[in-house]
Amino acid sequence: MTTFTVNGQERTVDVPGDTPLLWVLRDELKLTGTKFGCGVAQCGACTVMLDGTTRRSCVTPISTLEGANITTIEGLDTPEAHAVQAAWKALDVPQCGWCQSGQVVSASALLYEIPNPTDADIDSAMVGNICRCATYVRIRQGIKDAAKALEA
Ligand code: FES
Ligand code: FES
Repeated sequence: MTTFTVNGQERTVDVPGDTPLLWVLRDELKLTGTKFGCGVAQCGACTVMLDGTTRRSCVTPISTLEGANITTIEGLDTPEAHAVQAAWKALDVPQCGWCQSGQVVSASALLYEIPNPTDADIDSAMVGNICRCATYVRIRQGIKDAAKALEA
């Protein structure tokens, strides 16, 4: 049994300790906004917030999360996340959409850490979030637009 907090609610799950957080979220808790892409920490589709930092849920065993505080795309409710989502919508960033939960989580975390990121900051923060539809140019612009909106 593991008890942890997901999107502000305490949850207890009874699954083998080596079960990745991604599958606990999707299969046990029915939070399907977090996506499976590669399963080996290479694509970023499964990115969530763990105690304030981004984490690849596909390689995070549930046994390591007793007492942890997880935020998924469904519970991402910060000024940065709202600014990112507004910019994404205005720029039509998502194409197939599969990678976008992870992109939004990572972009929101970046803006929380660095309110006015440079291109190099964006590259460094987002390099691990792969998009097979190649929305990278719009993602970069979206982060910049969100930063401006937060500044205003
Ligand atoms: S599914 Fe986790 S990084 Fe690709
Ligand atoms: S929008 Fe299709 S994979 Fe990124």
